Order: sequence, then C-alpha cells, then structure tokens
Amino acid sequence: MSFELWLFTIKRLAQTMDAAKLIFDGLSPDAQEELRREYNEYMGIKDTGSARVLILNGSPKAEGNTAIAIKEFAKVLDAEGFDSETIQLGSKDVRGCVSCGACGKAGKCAFDDIVNELAPKFEAADGLVVASPVYYASANATLIACLDRLFYSTHFDKTMKVGASIVVARRGGCSATFDELNKYFTISGMPVAPSQYWNSVHGSAPGEALMDAEGLQIMRTLARNMAFMMKSIALGKEKYGLPEKEEHLWTNFISSK
Ligand SMILES: Cc1cc2nc3c(=O)[nH]c(=O)nc-3n(C[C@H](O)[C@H](O)[C@H](O)COP(=O)(O)O)c2cc1C
Repeated sequence: MSFELWLFTIKRLAQTMDAAKLIFDGLSPDAQEELRREYNEYMGIKDTGSARVLILNGSPKAEGNTAIAIKEFAKVLDAEGFDSETIQLGSKDVRGCVSCGACGKAGKCAFDDIVNELAPKFEAADGLVVASPVYYASANATLIACLDRLFYSTHFDKTMKVGASIVVARRGGCSATFDELNKYFTISGMPVAPSQYWNSVHGSAPGEALMDAEGLQIMRTLARNMAFMMKSIALGKEKYGLPEKEEHLWTNFISSK
C-alpha cells in the first residue's frame, strides 16, 4: 500500500472514531455503560472497570445538580492523572438488605443486581466517591440501599482505599448527610478525603449548582486532596505495606462470643 493510501485510510479512521465518540458522548450514562460492557465482551476484555476511582451518583437525575458537582470534581481528578468511572445509581431499581446472611458464605449479595456489578469495580479502585442529593436531611434511599449491601456483602480488604462523600441540597441537611455517608468509609478502614469545607454544593432545580461558586471550588479542592492522598498512600504501601491487622473481635452489648 502506498504512503498516500495509508495516510488517507488513517485519516478516515480518525474521522470515524471522532464521529463514534460524538455519538457515544450523546448517549445516556446507562446506555454508555451497556455499550462499554458489550465492547469489552466483544474484545474479550475482563470488565472489572479499570477506573481507579469509582464514583456513585445517588441522584435519579443524570443531569442534575449532583452530576454537576461530580463533573467539577472529576475534571480536576482527571487533570491529577486519575481515571474515574461514574455510575448513575439513583435511577436504578435497588432493593434494601434483607439481612439473610447469604453473603457471609458467598462473598456476594444474594440479589444479583448492580451491587454485585459494583463489587469488582470497588475492589479494583483506589478510591470511592459517594455523591447524593439530600432528601429529608439524609441521602437518597436508593444509594443507601446500595451502600448497605455493597459494604456488607463484600469481604475484600478496603483498608486505605480513599473515600469521599459529596452532598447536594437546596438548603439544609448537608452536614447530617455528609456524616451519614462518611460512616461507610470509617467503619471500613478507609481514610476520608477532606476539602476546604464540608463537601456540599447548593442548588434546587437542575443546573442551579453551576451558580454555587464556593461549592464548586470545594469540589475541586476535594479532588486535589483526594489525589494527593491516593498518591501518598500508594507510596506508603510500597514502603511500609498496609497496617498490621488484629483478629477482628465481635462483641455486642448483651453477650460476647
Ligand atoms: C424527596 C426530596 C427531599 C428533599 N429534601 C431536601 C432537604 O432535606 N434539604 C434540602 O435542602 N433539599 C432537599 N431536596 C432538594 C434536593 O436536595 C435538591 O433539589 C438537589 O439539588 C437535587 O439534586 P439532583 O438535581 O442531583 O437530583 C429534596 C428533594 C426531594 C425530591
């Protein structure tokens, strides 16, 4: 093949890829996820999700205020050299934990849904970001149902994976929701990334969060701090390894086993 023909073919290929990217970007997050799965299956790529930071959007709105906060955060995280994957969780049908205990043996939830799909992505990630709109001074119920089952059913070591929570509200309940979400991290040996304020962004109707300049700055600072923590922890793990673990004691307030 002549050089000119090679050049022509490569240019055409690049144009086709640009067009494919344009179409892909225009798809809904759910459709993008589906397509990514199909592509990986076709190419024989094991879909553990290569993202180093897994981001869960607990809002049912793919283009709501929580999405705006996440995008501001992810933009800086990307500039810091971290891949991330955002899962649109709030619009999914996720039931709560029924305390059946099956996960104790199986190491995965008995309800085989998005929770079990998230588990390997969480295991592969260095950080987990949980973002939620505030509903009655609490996180979105779908997100809580997912987190209860995800954290309870998975037994891989979460020590020193960095956690961060983001809360989005019209006016109130941010701190309570922030505390609620951070508790999943602090019971799991996961250090929590800080920002310059508690990680809240304000907005009511979708799009209003774009006007919260301070909130968006909090997101950018959070991303920089989280990136710094993940880099530092990677170095620390290399030099010192993970902290030694004692055998976990389980007692309750009535008896000890
Ligand atoms: C059921 C429900 C409860 C809400 N409760 C609160 C609340 O307690 N405090 C608050 O400031 N905003 C509350 N809001 C408003 C949302 O938090 C706010 O509109 C937010 O921007 C939604 O984020 P999203 O666009 O990502 O879904 C509530 C909204 C809904 C639908």
